[in-house]
Amino acid sequence: MSSTDAASLPAGPTTSPVVAMARWLFTPLAMLDGLSKQYGNVFTLRLPRLPEPFVFFAEPEAVRALWHGDPDVLRAGEANELLRSVVGAHSLLVLDGDAHLRERRLMLPPFHGDRMRAYGAAMRDATLRELARWPQGRAFPIHGAMQAITLDVILRTIFGVGAEAAQLAPLREALVRYTTLGTSWLGTALLLLVPPAQASRIQRAATGPFGALLPWAHISRAQQDTDRLVRALIADRRRAGTAGRDDVLSMLLDARDDHGAPMTDDELRDEMLTLLLAGHETTATALAWAIHHLLANPTWLARLRAELAEVVDADGHVPLDRLDRLVLLDAAIKETLRLTPIIPLVGRRLARPTTIAGHALPTGTTVMASIYLVHRRADLWPDPTRFDPGRFVGKKPDPTHFFPFGGGTRRCLGMAFALYEMKIVLATILATVDLAPAPGRPVRVVRRGITFAPSGGMPVVATTRSVPR
Ligand code: HEM
Repeated sequence: MSSTDAASLPAGPTTSPVVAMARWLFTPLAMLDGLSKQYGNVFTLRLPRLPEPFVFFAEPEAVRALWHGDPDVLRAGEANELLRSVVGAHSLLVLDGDAHLRERRLMLPPFHGDRMRAYGAAMRDATLRELARWPQGRAFPIHGAMQAITLDVILRTIFGVGAEAAQLAPLREALVRYTTLGTSWLGTALLLLVPPAQASRIQRAATGPFGALLPWAHISRAQQDTDRLVRALIADRRRAGTAGRDDVLSMLLDARDDHGAPMTDDELRDEMLTLLLAGHETTATALAWAIHHLLANPTWLARLRAELAEVVDADGHVPLDRLDRLVLLDAAIKETLRLTPIIPLVGRRLARPTTIAGHALPTGTTVMASIYLVHRRADLWPDPTRFDPGRFVGKKPDPTHFFPFGGGTRRCLGMAFALYEMKIVLATILATVDLAPAPGRPVRVVRRGITFAPSGGMPVVATTRSVPR
């Protein structure tokens, strides 16, 4: 990049990139708040060992440019490069151009419309099974409980239920290990500080003869176990055939691109892993935040319960065909995602010089649309830190003011699935148990890998209970 290019970049902190990375790692939201206070809605950040700048926007005009711009110029896969060592080189998350389009077309059908609604019963059953395990009168972490539900749901959605049920248990265990270690402090540091090529080398070394001495050996082992089990499930399904099955793996095995080509084993493995990881941790965290906000706002909780009472059947079950009537619950879910977005930014790397919201930016710049900052702009969302689902009742939010799932051709593939799942899980919980926040330390936002979760697993106490049969 020439000095003229650098001179034209929006202002930003001049502290060392290492200090910037440390703040980004440990206090990311405070950092975003501080930078927006100091520099306004556009600022440049430089991070260690990356020659090219990151330009952050909390501007709807910039967000619009990202959603409607040319995806060959605004490269999301390149901006997600860090995730390559986690989800693989064929993952939808790290692809761009035609390869992304092809893969996205193959993967979309199971996550939309009636196909997606077919998983509703599995979502409700997974919630009821988990509820039956909750202790009464004793604090337990609700985040972990939500992870158990969403992992169960995504495993059943992807692989189906049936013959391989026994194989799902070890995969589940490996995924829990991988997610827990991968989102730990060490895993997060590895993800953010080590470029993908070196990360792969470290992972190989960690499984070598002296691997156990390396601190990330456990992460590598969890990753390898997950990989082996996913590949075994793919191979078994190829052998057994897909006739009569409606799970995602079977649909992807049968899918053909415009040239009639099927997905390869490597592609299937990377996409399975992408769906398993992207499809459970995010939704679980969003559910934990929803419960946090509802417990902190008893008036809204009471309104949601009253709405639910009109819908549940005589056994206290939530009928799946009446979910559309839960408009306040729907609004509370959206307000949760506004106030505490799970992922605070989405990025696009520029493949050529581009002007975004009046700023001429050079090739290589990563343009960051700040979900967190836009969602908290007082001019767009009056009294922005107040939890008020009323903002969404009867209103369709502007996709440049509210975008917890990103946007454009890269919008979250699982958005409809996640919103549907959140509705079923929350409705089933609210119709079945009473929860109270566990006494103790107040909940803070903490980083878990690339997601932002409530601290300490968000302990709650289940006080009364009547599990429907
Ligand atoms: C509350 C839950 C969730 C949130 C907040 C969330 C958020 C996001 C965000 C912000 C992106 C990036 C979009 C962009 O760059 O514009 C994304 C991408 C993606 N998400 Fe989600 N997600 C959630 C649940 C899910 C679920 C349940 C699945 C799968 C079942 C999923 C699969 C994906 C995939 C495959 C992509 C990559 C899409 C592409 O690049 O074409 N997500 N998600």
